[in-house]
This record gives sequence, C-alpha cells and structure tokens, in this order.
Amino acid sequence: MNQEHLISLLYGIQDPDIGQTLGQLKAVHSVEISGNRVRVFLEVIPPLHWIAKRLDYDCKALVLAHYPDAEVEVLVRESEHDANVARVFPQIKNLIAVSSGKGGVGKSTVAANLAAALAQRGARVGLLDADIYGPSQPTMYGMADQQMRAEKSPEGKVIGYPNEAYGVKVASIGFVMQRDQAAILRGPMLAGYFTMLVEQIQWGELDFLIFDLPPGTGDIQLTLTQRIPLSGAVVVTTPQEIALADVRRSIQMFNKVNVRVLGVVENMSHFIPQDLPDRKYYIFGQGGGQSVANEYGVSFLGEIPIDIRVREGADAGFPFVLDPESGSLGDSFREIASQVVRQVRKAQADAKSNAIAIEL
Ligand SMILES: Nc1ncnc2c1ncn2[C@@H]1O[C@H](COP(=O)(O)OP(=O)(O)O)[C@@H](O)[C@H]1O
Ligand SMILES: [Mg+2]
Repeated sequence: MNQEHLISLLYGIQDPDIGQTLGQLKAVHSVEISGNRVRVFLEVIPPLHWIAKRLDYDCKALVLAHYPDAEVEVLVRESEHDANVARVFPQIKNLIAVSSGKGGVGKSTVAANLAAALAQRGARVGLLDADIYGPSQPTMYGMADQQMRAEKSPEGKVIGYPNEAYGVKVASIGFVMQRDQAAILRGPMLAGYFTMLVEQIQWGELDFLIFDLPPGTGDIQLTLTQRIPLSGAVVVTTPQEIALADVRRSIQMFNKVNVRVLGVVENMSHFIPQDLPDRKYYIFGQGGGQSVANEYGVSFLGEIPIDIRVREGADAGFPFVLDPESGSLGDSFREIASQVVRQVRKAQADAKSNAIAIEL
C-alpha cells in the first residue's frame, strides 16, 4: 500500500453537505499504514456525528476497492468551530436565530420542531425562547407550569438551569420576565438581558443553540442580532405578499449586521385535506418563499403545509416531528433540519477557506 496514493484517493471523497472534497476542505489529517492495516485520521466540520458515519463508510469503501485485503479504521474528529460564537460562548458550537418579519407565521413552531429534529438525530440542542412579545416554547415543550431552577454562585452570580424535554434544553424569557415588563424595556437593555440569559444559563456543551427571536426588524431585533454572535439566521414566512414584504426587511436587517441568512422556510404553504389526499390548496398563494429566497440569493430551506396535527402538537406540548407516525409532514420538518445543518456547515467551510486565503 502506498501512502501517497491512499491520501490522493481520500482527497477525492466528497463531503456530501458542503459539496467540496476532503482535499479541498483540508480534512485529511494523516494516514498511517502498518502491514495491511490502515488508519485514516480526518478532521471535519462539526457536528461530527452528522457526518462521521457517512465518511467512515465512504473511506472504507474506497480504500477496499483499491486494496481488498486492507483493514481500515477511520478516526474522525471535529475541526475548530465557529470562532465568532466560540469567543463568547465556548461551549456552544452554533447559535442559530429563527426569525420572522411578522408574528403568527409559525416561527416558534419551526424553532420547536427544528430543535426536536436535530436532537432526535443525536445533536446536543438548546432552545432559547427570546420572544418577549409571546414566549411560546414553554407551552410547545409542555413545560408552561415549570419554573427555571436557579441558584447563586459563590461569587453571587445567578446561574439558571434549562428545563429539558425530548432531549432539548429549553429556557425562556417567559421563565424570568413578566409579560408587561417587556414593553417598557428598550432594545439595548433587552439585549443585555439576553446576553445574560445565554451566558448565565448552564447549557453545557451544545452543537446548536436555537434562538426563537421576537418577530420584526425594529430596534430590539437589530440590537440583539448585533450583540449576540450568531452563526446564521433562518427566516420563516408564509407565502402571501403581505408576509413577504416583511421577510425582505428581515433579510436586509441580517445583511446589514453581517449575519448570514441560512435560508427561508415557507410555512403554511398549502393545505392537503386528510380525506382528499390528492388535493393541494394554495390558500396563501404559491411559490412566495422560493421567489423571495431567489431574489436575495439565499437558500430555500423547504416548505411546511398547514396541518391540524402541527397545531395540536404545539398546543399539547409535543413537537410534532417526533411523532413516529409523522410521515411526509414530519419529513418536511426533518428535511429543513438537514438543510439548516448543511447551510451551517457550508458557512463554516467558507469561513475556513477565507481564513486560509488571508493567511496565504
Ligand atoms: N404548519 C402549520 N400547520 C398548522 N398550524 C400551524 C402551522 N404552523 C404554525 N401553526 C399554528 O399557528 C399558530 C402560530 O404559530 P407560531 O409558531 O406560534 O407563530 P409565531 O411564533 O410566528 O408567532 C400556532 O397556533 C401554531 O400551532
Ligand atoms: Mg412565536
């Protein structure tokens, strides 16, 4: 077995999310050969578990195709994570905002199901409900009557502990703030409050912290997105023109503060009657989310139909995507979760290759 040849083979393997080869991504750390044993060391963009199995399979298959007698072991570790986030929150790999220009479009529903879908696939996930106007994650996660456990550290600092359900750690501004209190606080004060909420909560190690932002693009949203180091933002809309106008403002706001827009989710895209499963009704119009994504050159992450089961799950404190019988409706949420991970990993690959270019 020839080491150079092995490395050149491995360089050609694609990272399926990012659409670049391991060579381009500088992901092949080293290869050790002794006798017919091969150890491949990879360093990939997190989250590790998302990609490790697939790469393990691809590497083994490729080496064995050329050296059928080889005994191959693939060891994968994570490359450094988002430096912007790490500087402020060393235990959190990705901070993702879910936002919308308007209330009522399903932002919290998307955030709740996104968090659940990521956790179900093995990611360590936190969900921070920052919607001062209508915190709804405690309800959507069935913990509306719970309090947040908090204690004082020896230095007198307050430390909060998130509540956990379905493998997701949840904290809400609703646990710590009276509803009418929000109205009198200005953006900068609130932003300070949120930074505290993120910092003083013992999240532990997280692959993703999902932020359910307050809707809109005002002072509060602007300050929040400037103060908190986000890996990217997911913008949720419904298809009608009146909602799309607000989405445009959202995307412009994120562009202004240099937060990457990971993509647009179109919620309540259409309605399929349960007794007429071949019919699709485009109640709010068709194709709006896709066209606004095209307009700004951002990704379209997927669409979710209107379905009573989504609303029932939200009211019952059970993220619908976790229902074993969620079927194709569940798949629409799962596909969006995969798309979000893909976009986050792509963003990191871009940041890395920019950094390399600057070093050169
Ligand atoms: N795809 C959907 N199908 C059915 N009901 C939905 C769907 N998305 C959201 N809802 C319901 O619509 C209402 C508003 O959604 P919510 O996520 O709270 O919106 P937002 O956070 O944008 O204000 C909730 O009652 C929720 O259960
Ligand atoms: Mg909401």
